[in-house]
Amino acid sequence: MAMETHLRVVFFLVNVVVLGVSGAGGETAVGDPGMRRDGLRVAFEAWNFCNEVGQEAPGMGSPRAADCFDLSSSFLKHQVSEADNKLGVGQPFPGLAPGAINNTDLYAMQKELYLGSLCQVEDTPNPWQFWMVMLKNGNYDTTSGLCPRNGKKAPPFSPGRFPCFGKGCMNQPMLYHQQTKLSDGGIMRGSFNGTYDLGSDIGSGLDGISFYEVVWEKTVSNGSWVFSHKLKTSKKYPWLMLYLRADATTGFSGGYHYDTRGMLKILPESPNFKVKVTLDVKQGGGPKSQFYLIDIGSCWKNNGAPCDGDVLTDITRYSEMIINPETPAWCSPTNLGNCPPYHVTPNNTKIYRNDTANFPYGAYHYYCAPENAQFLEKPVSTCDPYSNPQAQELVQLLPHPIWADYGYPTKQGDGWVGDARTWELDVGGLASRLYFYQDPGTPPARRIWRSIDMGTEIFVSDKDEVAEWTISDFDVTFT
Ligand SMILES: *[C@@H]1O[C@H](CO)[C@@H](O)[C@H](O)[C@H]1NC(C)=O
Ligand SMILES: *[C@@H]1O[C@H](CO)[C@@H](O)[C@H](O)[C@H]1NC(C)=O
Ligand SMILES: *[C@@H]1O[C@H](CO)[C@@H](O)[C@H](O)[C@H]1NC(C)=O
Ligand SMILES: *[C@@H]1O[C@H](CO)[C@@H](O)[C@H](O)[C@H]1NC(C)=O
Ligand SMILES: *[C@@H]1O[C@H](CO)[C@@H](O)[C@H](O)[C@H]1NC(C)=O
Repeated sequence: MAMETHLRVVFFLVNVVVLGVSGAGGETAVGDPGMRRDGLRVAFEAWNFCNEVGQEAPGMGSPRAADCFDLSSSFLKHQVSEADNKLGVGQPFPGLAPGAINNTDLYAMQKELYLGSLCQVEDTPNPWQFWMVMLKNGNYDTTSGLCPRNGKKAPPFSPGRFPCFGKGCMNQPMLYHQQTKLSDGGIMRGSFNGTYDLGSDIGSGLDGISFYEVVWEKTVSNGSWVFSHKLKTSKKYPWLMLYLRADATTGFSGGYHYDTRGMLKILPESPNFKVKVTLDVKQGGGPKSQFYLIDIGSCWKNNGAPCDGDVLTDITRYSEMIINPETPAWCSPTNLGNCPPYHVTPNNTKIYRNDTANFPYGAYHYYCAPENAQFLEKPVSTCDPYSNPQAQELVQLLPHPIWADYGYPTKQGDGWVGDARTWELDVGGLASRLYFYQDPGTPPARRIWRSIDMGTEIFVSDKDEVAEWTISDFDVTFT
């Protein structure tokens, strides 16, 4: 007990010193700047097509889990038990809100809060909880009527538009957890892995089945945690997403309309923040792998007001840079509907998309507007209305010389397989100049980013594909 108190005092002093040294401008937004803290906080969440649970996988509990521990001299003191991780709908836990116990969606969201309470680290100006591994299955059974359209309950419709092998295609995955262990040489290592193919045995080979894995490893008192990811699609699960997220520690995070837990102890706001991260892509995941060097997510209404949980008017906003060189620009002079209405240069000059001599078409993979926006400039593509709990808007970028001022990739292949790098991205500056829809005459939304993610979305592959990558040194700092 006395020992613990002593350690806490030491940690507190260390924090004060770190903040003091970095001073104004160098302060961090994340609880674990640079992923260097020996006492790791990492959690897992799995989402179905519309970012809910729907149905739990048999024997797996609710698809939320965590691995959180402190290092005390020679052993790891874990805060989350396997019984906590296996908690599933119908089973009570401390703090569970009445009415949530028998609802798989509400239960998962409450379980995240509970795991957060076990993992929480006190800090200034706010406590924080964990890095979040997010796994999502893009199958949608349109005959189920499970996903709302732009947040509004919608009737079932005929299959064909989204991948689904039949009843049960929206299932949650098997999840295996290797709780972090300390071994000789001061190496700490743990993992989450599993498959969507219920009943299959990943121990006897991955042929024909889906697979995901995140392994974290660190040497005590030295360097960063290294998160090694692997994602494999299969015929039954051709559209899968795996990200490592720094989410808001309270309120909503990107794509999620429930109270969340995370790593962003201060929410970064455009334009004054940067993201530092080391990315090593070892295997790309095929031509459909939309690898996001960085994906930022937030939420505001079409009139610029902050989101309040009303899924009919809240709009998820995402922007991401896709670094797979096989990803083409769908935006072009002959496909203006896939481009944002204008581009803004670093010196704040607006270039309209019909200005074919100057608009950087190759810098945009795809722009789509929220389907429920009322004053859209035509031609326009609207975003898929089913794959989020509410309407969404996407601004998808590609490496291009126009992004050089922000430290982003400037040419195809930058940051890709064989080009591992530590990036220092002026995410705040770039995101302050991206086009996002707003109703005419409304005050501009504050661009406060509630999620910063990295990873890949293998977007409906026609054969089994494997992506592998590592992430380390992640930090968000103010400029
Ligand atoms: C939850 O479901 C169980 C089993 O069906 C039932 O006994 C219990 O009353 C339900 N609880 C609530 C709060 O609805
Ligand atoms: C998945 O993780 C478990 C530990 O939880 C490990 O024993 C197993 O080898 C891993 N499977 C694969 C295919 O990597
Ligand atoms: C810390 O890690 C670096 C890079 O991995 C390595 O070169 C160095 O020897 C390590 N230092 C110690 C004290 O282990
Ligand atoms: C802004 O930058 C563009 C090139 O990106 C250049 O052509 C233009 O002259 C600049 N405008 C001003 C006002 O500096
Ligand atoms: C280009 O688009 C802008 C904004 O929509 C419009 O004001 C302008 O008239 C268009 N120019 C041409 C040549 O079509």
